[in-house]
Amino acid sequence: MKVPYAYASPLDRVSQEHRRVIRARRETVETGLDRLPRHGWRDYDLEIGCGHGHFLAAYAAAHPQRYCVGIDIAGGRLERARKKSSRAALDNVSWIHSEALLFLECLPGAITFSRVFILFPDPWPKRRHHKHRLVQPRFLELLSSVCRPEATLYFRSDDGNYTQQARNSLIASAFWDIRPAEAWPWERASVFQERAARYESLVARKTPTGFSGAGGA
Ligand SMILES: C[S@@+](CC[C@H](N)C(=O)[O-])C[C@H]1O[C@@H](n2cnc3c(N)ncnc32)[C@H](O)[C@@H]1O
Repeated sequence: MKVPYAYASPLDRVSQEHRRVIRARRETVETGLDRLPRHGWRDYDLEIGCGHGHFLAAYAAAHPQRYCVGIDIAGGRLERARKKSSRAALDNVSWIHSEALLFLECLPGAITFSRVFILFPDPWPKRRHHKHRLVQPRFLELLSSVCRPEATLYFRSDDGNYTQQARNSLIASAFWDIRPAEAWPWERASVFQERAARYESLVARKTPTGFSGAGGA
């Protein structure tokens, strides 16, 4: 059958719509990134999956010399985070609506992170859903590429199975060196930490293998 020139299958329409959504999401992230200050800050710290910003807003208030970036895939949660930081008149924190991998891919080379926090990430407890967990080898490699030399990753979870998987991924990673004896830099219970009966923490340092040529801001 001869296909008319202008013919578009329903599948094409779906994929065009999909491309439009991805483009719009990328633009949102890039707009957020454009607003980040590039000068005047020695250290940039990142919280991935910051939720309502409970931890990061308090952390930013306690560390006025560090610039903090909180990202979350759920935009509604960030509205509450924004309210917290504007009520406290914080000038050293930004909130960006983004999925984690998309954010890491969009980051300009000018910004590299000193500390990264992943606090109570979605646990995806069913085995068939483990592939959706954030901490995976590809993520660890990408994260290391946007971190300064000697950057530190702080992971905390109340899901023992996820923590063990994250520990194994860090041990196997050429980009991160797990540091069992290293202390947590600052404590403030996040919303999920307050609800957790128990939790475990992991600390890892970026290895020289994972050296980022950008060399910090
Ligand atoms: C269980 S909550 C923890 C929130 C906060 N860190 C705390 O401890 O209270 C996990 C958060 O991660 C966000 N999230 C899940 N997957 C994400 C992803 N791929 N990229 C960015 N944020 C994500 C969710 O929207 C949610 O706000």
